Amino acid sequence: MDKIKIENVSKIFGSGRHINQALKLVEQNKSKTEILKQTGATIGVYNANFTVKEGEVFVIMGLSGSGKSTLVRLLNRLIEPTSGNIYIDGENISKMNKQQLIKVRREKMSMVFQNFGLFPQRTVLANTEYGLEIRGISKEERRLKAEKALDNAGLLPYKDQYPSQLSGGMQQRVGLARALANDPDILLMDEAFSALDPLIRKDMQDELLDLQQKMKKTIIFITHDLNEALRIGDRIALMKDGEIIQIGTGEEILTNPANDYVRSFLEDVDRSKVLTVENAMIRPISINIDIDGPKVALQTMREEEVSVVLAVNKMREFKGYITADDALEASKRGESNLSNYLRTDMPTVQPDTFIQDVLSVISDSKTPLAVVREQKLVGVLIRGVVIETLSTSNEGVTEHESVS
Ligand SMILES: Nc1ncnc2c1ncn2[C@@H]1O[C@H](COP(=O)(O)OP(=O)(O)OP(=O)(O)O)[C@@H](O)[C@H]1O
Ligand SMILES: [Mg+2]
Repeated sequence: MDKIKIENVSKIFGSGRHINQALKLVEQNKSKTEILKQTGATIGVYNANFTVKEGEVFVIMGLSGSGKSTLVRLLNRLIEPTSGNIYIDGENISKMNKQQLIKVRREKMSMVFQNFGLFPQRTVLANTEYGLEIRGISKEERRLKAEKALDNAGLLPYKDQYPSQLSGGMQQRVGLARALANDPDILLMDEAFSALDPLIRKDMQDELLDLQQKMKKTIIFITHDLNEALRIGDRIALMKDGEIIQIGTGEEILTNPANDYVRSFLEDVDRSKVLTVENAMIRPISINIDIDGPKVALQTMREEEVSVVLAVNKMREFKGYITADDALEASKRGESNLSNYLRTDMPTVQPDTFIQDVLSVISDSKTPLAVVREQKLVGVLIRGVVIETLSTSNEGVTEHESVS
């Protein structure tokens, strides 16, 4: 079942009559600024529709003022929708009374804010206990849960300190621990990492990804940063002037931008952070080390115009490589098998690794890199091709011969 479903949800900020005028004007495709000028009402979110699956990380992106915060606040009805329906676990929260709503908010959702949102006069532990406290959980139980959450975040030794005594990254970890202590199904994260400097931010992203492996929460994650979105999100929704203009995986959006706006939005991305090894690898030239001898190796190298062949066994498992010089030597000696000439110092990488993360391996290595999936050789990564791939314009990923 869908964890979250939102159906034709709009939020227009303004007074009654103006809202209706504004809605008419949106339907006539008038721009957000024009509508504001004419009616004094602001389009917060217009006609949003999407579903989020359980365990999914759903990223909302867009420029400042595009409606991201409004959209998440509609999900827990911190903001009341002007129209439309919002379902959490199939229950229509737009129809709930106050008490039901409070229960859903306390038990199912937690929010993590950009500026940490910690109480300065409370210790780290007391901050972490906060959500449990307002749920009326007993002192002992909430202490246990809060300490466990802090322990998971590596912050237990700091439990008696005050937020001002911690670094920004640590404060944000407390914010995250506080949200998780509640054990919510849904985590709403509004620019949670934006205030952090880049390295700490990357750590927090890694930490969130690690935690998510274990917890499998449903996460709505707002960010301005496309690279962050691509790293964290299972799917990304891109907003402009209150409307969702595209939803898809990072790969889908990069490959097929819905319109020029999306395309220009994406131009900022550093391609190395997006491309994976699979996008840049080429077909490997290989021999079967169990069967093929020097003659076959030399013939293959001649035919393919290479001075090295990769070696696999009959299961296509990667074993190493053979150089032309060695094959020649083996041939002169009348050897029929190349096992003694097998070289094993070729680095291996997985196809789904980001190119960014292997650039240093590529530049340090004397040989190309073997691309290996579950021990089987699936491709080879050659420095020149990688550079070429990185410099290709946004016209989509270079397609090389696929490897079976
Ligand atoms: N309480 C409010 N009253 C009136 N207008 C509002 C209110 N809250 C938001 N808006 C308007 O709704 C639009 C969307 O705002 P929102 O805060 O959702 O943007 P955002 O995408 O989160 O931006 P940012 O990246 O700067 O946080 C903006 O034009 C904003 O002016
Ligand atoms: Mg915002």
